[in-house]
Amino acid sequence: MNQLSWGVIGAGGIADRRTLPGMMQAKNASIAAVMEIDRNFAEVLRKKYKAPKAYTSEEELLADPAVEAVYIASPVTAHYQQALAAAGAGKHILIEKPVAMKIEEGEALIKLCAEKKLQFSAGFMMRFHPCHRKLRELVSQGGLGKIVSLRAQLTCWYPEIPGAWRQDPALSGGGALMDMGIHCIDLLQYITGSRAVRVSALMGTSTFSYAVEDSASLIMEFENHAHASVDAFFNIPDDASENRLEIYGTGGCALAAGTIGQTGGGTCSLVYSNPGGYNNQQNRNESQGRQNLSWEEANPYTLEIESFGDSLLKGKKTEAPAEEAVQVQRVIAGAYQSAREGRVVEIPLV
Ligand SMILES: NC(=O)c1ccc[n+]([C@@H]2O[C@H](COP(=O)([O-])OP(=O)(O)OC[C@H]3O[C@@H](n4cnc5c(N)ncnc54)[C@H](O)[C@@H]3O)[C@@H](O)[C@H]2O)c1
Repeated sequence: MNQLSWGVIGAGGIADRRTLPGMMQAKNASIAAVMEIDRNFAEVLRKKYKAPKAYTSEEELLADPAVEAVYIASPVTAHYQQALAAAGAGKHILIEKPVAMKIEEGEALIKLCAEKKLQFSAGFMMRFHPCHRKLRELVSQGGLGKIVSLRAQLTCWYPEIPGAWRQDPALSGGGALMDMGIHCIDLLQYITGSRAVRVSALMGTSTFSYAVEDSASLIMEFENHAHASVDAFFNIPDDASENRLEIYGTGGCALAAGTIGQTGGGTCSLVYSNPGGYNNQQNRNESQGRQNLSWEEANPYTLEIESFGDSLLKGKKTEAPAEEAVQVQRVIAGAYQSAREGRVVEIPLV
């Protein structure tokens, strides 16, 4: 067996925009079935992705013996019940973020999948961006010294859209932080191999009239004592922000622009430093000693699907375990609490 056969639940959103095209290019994946709630749309997607079957309910898709793994990309309120049903049907699961509305639901799914020996991963495809993987390796080898400061930024322009589930906290669990900051927190933890232990946050809805936050700023302390900041905003125009990723250590820094996002693009420069003594002249030359980090551009969604398949087909380590996504949700819960109560919140490490 050298291919994993996928069923896609909620195939018409990000799945259609990114993951299904990525899956089509994956070396070890085949698409057995797609599910969408509208019959005609399901059929359109079936044809587009050359899938043998189109369904309008997850029950039908999960009863299909050709489906070995499911990719769940439905709105967040549907995640828990669909993942529960998928595990009940013995299917491996890749699920979009957040794993479930409630942390306890995510924990219950982790336990169930472990009992049933099913793979359960989260859709943190930014982990698979080649630049982020190189940075993780560099940091783990001590290439930037001891990491002391981190920043990740993800913003977009997201005005009011009638009926949009993301803009209703009861359906999304939160706004810019839950939707986009979630990737930033995960990336910083992934690249450093260290987890956030304390968080302080400001949250607000300063531009739009919906009930979720359009502005979220977090400051965290990590286990390794690094300070990290995350900014997630729904009210910065798409062409105004570069979605910066910044990693500073006692031996240099990595400064990336445009790598946080849905493509394998962007740029990144590195500085390797050997600071020695204090330079009281402070006559810096910011461009001196900067090196560009290069990588072969690749589709992070394809790499995500291939990695999930390789864990099952070749026994490779799961690269985005759902446990780590639920840990990110604990940080997010701490951030919302911090913003409500105006204080620093400790994050339980599980
Ligand atoms: N990793 C990424 O790049 C990325 C990007 C965007 C969204 N997401 C995540 O993907 C998920 C979906 O977001 P989206 O932007 O695609 O939303 P969306 O609303 O654009 O698409 C969701 C799709 O699911 C369908 N749907 C609605 N109810 C359903 C149900 N009960 N069962 C199955 N399908 C149902 C809808 O018809 C729609 O086609 C969310 O968890 C979101 O956070 C991830």
